[in-house]
Amino acid sequence: MTSYPKTDALMARGRDFLGTDHAILCGAMSWVSERNLVSAISNAGGFGVIACGAMTPELLDAEIAATKAMTDKPFGVNLITMHPQLFDLIKVCGRHGVGHVVLAGGIPPKGSVEAIKAFDAKVIVFAPTLALAKKLLRSGADALVIEGMEAGGHIGPVSTSVLAQEFLPELAEDYVVFVAGGIGRGEAIAGYLEMGASGVQLGTRFACATESIAHPDFKKAFFRAKARDAEASVQVDPRLPVIPVRALKNKGTDAFTAKQREVAGILDTGSIEMLEAQLQIEHYWAGALRRAVIDGDVENGSLMAGQSVGMVTQEEPAADIIAALMRQCEDALARR
Ligand SMILES: Cc1cc2nc3c(=O)[nH]c(=O)nc-3n(C[C@H](O)[C@H](O)[C@H](O)COP(=O)(O)O)c2cc1C
Repeated sequence: MTSYPKTDALMARGRDFLGTDHAILCGAMSWVSERNLVSAISNAGGFGVIACGAMTPELLDAEIAATKAMTDKPFGVNLITMHPQLFDLIKVCGRHGVGHVVLAGGIPPKGSVEAIKAFDAKVIVFAPTLALAKKLLRSGADALVIEGMEAGGHIGPVSTSVLAQEFLPELAEDYVVFVAGGIGRGEAIAGYLEMGASGVQLGTRFACATESIAHPDFKKAFFRAKARDAEASVQVDPRLPVIPVRALKNKGTDAFTAKQREVAGILDTGSIEMLEAQLQIEHYWAGALRRAVIDGDVENGSLMAGQSVGMVTQEEPAADIIAALMRQCEDALARR
């Protein structure tokens, strides 16, 4: 058994919180983070998270059951706060005794944190500002992920290095905080742990793991891409506050700009409400991501990827990726 004493010590709080050997989460990736990748991550000592995305409660129920059949290690479920059946999805997690629920995509609606805690699960939240982070943690959330704009998928405007400097000195002593966005190697993990993070969350680095069901062409696009190819989408209408998405540039990213114009046009006519407009944009992404991940349409689909994509060069088992990250982190700490 390989040992990582310095890393283990710095990850102790995160490992306790997650119930894992390593405080490394594989962030939920819609369509990618399903039973195969999630169980592989958890079986390798990390923490896998099912991406519920736009799934119905029935589909989530089946996915959790299938994941449980593939691992007896802890794993979590990521729910998008704007999902119209959020509370039904929470009930499904409760029925399965899911230990950790991640609420993503916005401020948790009233009662959602309480509903999760009612079945003794831990609630992990995201917060774009320090003030909101403090509020959520004081009002019941158990842990926080701070995610910088280097990340793949939906992103905020601030980089991971700046968020870490703003949030960790204020929060890390009292709360469990995981750092995400742009992490591709263990040396970076060492740095965030030394700043007080309890652990880290990676997505891009795991998307092409051997166990990931992503289409071979999706994976090939990742292997070819460099950091600069993972571009953030641009919001075209000031009334339609679209959360930017970082993805590899292709015809699909251009089509997203066109989709925003189309939805903004419908908003002009007054025939839909703002929430509905935003939901249409979200559904667009869910569909586009599916086309790329499942169908392998790397031209028109969405190749959500973070800037660390340049460090993804080949298919590797999840266990090897985790072992490499842990080794790099331990070596970096040993050199201090
Ligand atoms: C293909 C892809 C899909 C993603 N889908 C989701 C999602 O459904 N929900 C979510 O909270 N985060 C999602 N993310 C973000 C990841 O969970 C994770 O926080 C992020 O990838 C970390 O940054 P990194 O890509 O730089 O490692 C996605 C990321 C990628 C690359």
